[in-house]
Amino acid sequence: MAKVTFLPENRTVEFDLESLPYSEHGKPKSFLDIALHFGIHLEHACGGNCACTTCHVVVKKGAEFLNEMEDDEADRLDMAADLQLGSRLGCQAHFVRDGEVVIEIPSWNRNYVSEGGGSINLGDAIPAAKR
Ligand code: FES
Repeated sequence: MAKVTFLPENRTVEFDLESLPYSEHGKPKSFLDIALHFGIHLEHACGGNCACTTCHVVVKKGAEFLNEMEDDEADRLDMAADLQLGSRLGCQAHFVRDGEVVIEIPSWNRNYVSEGGGSINLGDAIPAAKR
């Protein structure tokens, strides 16, 4: 069995790895796949395609049960706010074997959600005249 605790919500879900992927979004057996299946909110602006950083999570425990970070994930993660030791993209980090993992959704992401922010930062896409 595999187990994930999502902080700060402190919600733990347990499942049989063989029953994954749930085939929602992100890599098979990824945190995003798992979060969506269990109704846990994890931003995923790009739909789990390693093209944003909104699914940023910090692995607090159990990194040994996850895949090694690949270059595309590392490159994308470099752009994430509040980068920490243990930072991963929730749509790219996935289980490779049974184990217990604890992850935290960084406050930057949580605040972003609670403020009702859109999923994409439009930045300069808004014409200067309308700002
Ligand atoms: S959802 Fe966009 S990189 Fe993970």
